[in-house]
Amino acid sequence: MSNPVLSLLEQRRSERNFTGETIPEADLQTILRAAQQAPTSVNGQQISLVVVRNKETIAKIAELAGGQPQVATADTFIAIVIDYQRPAEAARLVGQPMVIDSSAEGLMVGTVDAGIMLQALQTAAGALGYGTTAIGAVRRDPQAMTELLGLPPRTFVAVGTTLGIIDKAKQGQVKPRVPLESFALRERYDLAAVQQGVTQYDATLRQWWDKQGLTEMPSYAASTAGYYRAIYFPHVAATLTSQGFAFKDE
Ligand SMILES: Cc1cc2nc3c(=O)[nH]c(=O)nc-3n(C[C@H](O)[C@H](O)[C@H](O)COP(=O)(O)O)c2cc1C
Repeated sequence: MSNPVLSLLEQRRSERNFTGETIPEADLQTILRAAQQAPTSVNGQQISLVVVRNKETIAKIAELAGGQPQVATADTFIAIVIDYQRPAEAARLVGQPMVIDSSAEGLMVGTVDAGIMLQALQTAAGALGYGTTAIGAVRRDPQAMTELLGLPPRTFVAVGTTLGIIDKAKQGQVKPRVPLESFALRERYDLAAVQQGVTQYDATLRQWWDKQGLTEMPSYAASTAGYYRAIYFPHVAATLTSQGFAFKDE
């Protein structure tokens, strides 16, 4: 049975090649309005977006993200900001203190809500035929990103997304995933299934890259190990702290 929502989800992939054309403001509004309907923890709505269309600012974001060309060539960049200024204003209105932003739970709440927002934005954009790539590298130099976007205390840019018109000649391919049974574990966690899935997927991804002629691309094990052998963004805690966040229970 064909279903447009399922097809969109099943066919989703990061798009890193854009035509350079401009997305009409009305479509951008549609995407933003649809994404805003995403759920948030306790309806706190502790996410704000900074929607950047100014090309010089986008170029600066690309530079801070380590010189990523897919950012520099995006029509629009949307920064997804954990924003405890909004709940703080709510607390102020009723004369209550607010401590969630200086707790581990607050970091989890904000991060989960930001991830949901990312998916909502990207799905809405995809539904209109636009391309996106999530950009975690907004955390590469989080202090400079905070200053560039004018973020006050109690806010932190969790992730961002590019948005642009897909260059169909250079469209991304749907990337395979680990076997479903090593991902969706039934009833109880199954470590052996997870580990077995890694071996299988390493070969699957190798074949996928080779088929595209990208034989120099590392497979899953090499790529993941390469990223995770060191802390690749080592200034996150410092900026979170200076923005007033903390990772503690009390
Ligand atoms: C939170 C997050 C951060 C990401 N950051 C980047 C990034 O900085 N640059 C980039 O090119 N891709 C980035 N990606 C995209 C991933 O590399 C991509 O989703 C993954 O390789 C799977 O490929 P697919 O999205 O085409 O299925 C990020 C994805 C997520 C979810």
